[in-house]
Amino acid sequence: METVFSAIQPTGGFHIGNFLGAVQSWVDLLGKYRCFYSIVDLHALTQDYEPKDMAPRVEEMAAELLAAGVDPDKCTLFVQSHVHEHAELEWILNCVTPYGDLTRMTQFKDKSERVEVVNAGILNYPVLMAADILLYRATRVPVGVDQVQHLELAREITRRFNGRFGETFAEPMPIHTKALKILGLDGKQKMSKSLGNALQVSDAPDVIRKKLQNAFTDPTRLRKTDPGHPESCYVCGLQGYFASPEETARLHEGCRSATAGCVDSKRALAENVIRYFEPLREKSAELRAHPEKIRQILGDGAQTARKVAQETMRTVREKLGLY
Ligand code: TYM
Repeated sequence: METVFSAIQPTGGFHIGNFLGAVQSWVDLLGKYRCFYSIVDLHALTQDYEPKDMAPRVEEMAAELLAAGVDPDKCTLFVQSHVHEHAELEWILNCVTPYGDLTRMTQFKDKSERVEVVNAGILNYPVLMAADILLYRATRVPVGVDQVQHLELAREITRRFNGRFGETFAEPMPIHTKALKILGLDGKQKMSKSLGNALQVSDAPDVIRKKLQNAFTDPTRLRKTDPGHPESCYVCGLQGYFASPEETARLHEGCRSATAGCVDSKRALAENVIRYFEPLREKSAELRAHPEKIRQILGDGAQTARKVAQETMRTVREKLGLY
């Protein structure tokens, strides 16, 4: 059975971009691959944060992943910092990665523009990703489109490592998810909590309604009586993920024939999103009421992950000729 690795940063819970772009396919892959899924708190250190918030953020993310169907009996779910080998392999991979390859990463450029001080972690972020994947000898990596360039770099790093120290790792390939890139509520940039344009799965119903009221729609539709273009409307596009095919067709037709306005589309989407995530929200709240269960699952996951990671590192140290 091939191995899958994927990961998510502990931003608290996830937003619908993470859900459609990644988490949904994590669940679909269970049983078909040997799956390792990680909450990558070391990656999250590259952004400014309050230390007291980190543990609750990790716990919330774990609860939501479990509630979304990431079944710990069918995969290994763990916290990145619990397996020290991630940082060790990252250092080693840094030493086969040209600096220029890192500075040309689109995300590095974007993130560097948004912060006052560019820490070296932002630069080395994709090297840690490569370490995450290779530690488990994963060959398949489900990610959204924003991570494809990082995955290409991970393959390049793999080639360089193999070229320098002898064939050790297979090159990891992406698994493209059906929703490659979900735009934020502004309809311009990708959905991201740090950009303030995200619809969180855990948002209370009233927050979802309020956020969607201000969502981007169809810029060519100025009056309610103008016929809409559901294929280029942000809100109509999202309906397809949360409404049945029949309801989606009906909503699109209402937009096209101008019998329904953008406000109606937004209201319908809000109610569909609320309904869709209701069971997830309830299950996640139940789990959060029993943090000991979450700790147990993540502890077991770390133990399994550590065994595999330690085995890989034995090989790596040998290949490097370390004393
Ligand atoms: P993160 O937490 O930013 O994103 C987690 C996953 O969600 C996907 N995603 C999206 N997909 C569609 N539309 C969006 N707006 C959107 N926003 C996020 C991301 O593509 C990702 O799959 N750096 C990774 C985490 C990571 C990782 C790894 C992934 C660390 N090591 C190794 C794969 C393999 C990240 O983007 O996290």
